[in-house]
Amino acid sequence: MRIDIITVLPELLKSPFEASILKRAIEKDLVEIHLHNLRDYTSGNYKQVDDYQFGGGAGMVMMIEPIDKCISHLKAEREYDEVIYMTPDGESLNQGIANQISLKENLIILCGHYKGVDQRVRDMHVTREISIGDYVLSGGELAAAVLCDAVIRLLPGVLNDETSALTDTFQDNLLAPPVYTRPSEYKGMEVPKILLSGDFPKIEKWREEQALERTQKRRPDLLQ
Ligand code: ADE
Repeated sequence: MRIDIITVLPELLKSPFEASILKRAIEKDLVEIHLHNLRDYTSGNYKQVDDYQFGGGAGMVMMIEPIDKCISHLKAEREYDEVIYMTPDGESLNQGIANQISLKENLIILCGHYKGVDQRVRDMHVTREISIGDYVLSGGELAAAVLCDAVIRLLPGVLNDETSALTDTFQDNLLAPPVYTRPSEYKGMEVPKILLSGDFPKIEKWREEQALERTQKRRPDLLQ
């Protein structure tokens, strides 16, 4: 998979890819991340990427020209499966969407700022608009990092057996069951006996029951 991220703050997007699972995925050549500084696609001395909105009102709008130049430049080099715009008014990211996107080959992710991008960018280039929740971030960069993490960990070969995505919360519309590790007793708090029994069919059944109970209690909406 190749992901091209268009941003005015590339420095914000460096560290998420320099540690742990995402770093390893890049080192193993399972994903390529390319950061593009939108200011490199501006013309004037001021490297202007935003301007006042037509019709008046507070807040700046990201201009169409640098974004169109950047996306057109990328599209001339290869075909893209999706051009994703990170925006609080997009569809809410969930595991199903992450699963879908993990099957794609080439992605462009556009990070918005200020009041957002000129609507014509969305009409001309964007194929999918994604929000990471009903709150407003200062920009789309952290949202893009969240999307990349959720997608990249699903790529074949990224996770090993111990970290397999198949048993993740949400993968079967259930929250994950409680987990424990050593010591088996801490300050009088004991690990459920069943987990120490070695009876794996029973343990599996217990985990399923716990997952269901937890989901009913915390996220009944997932069971509908
Ligand atoms: N940009 C600003 N807020 C956002 C959000 N909640 N999700 C995605 N992109 C955003």
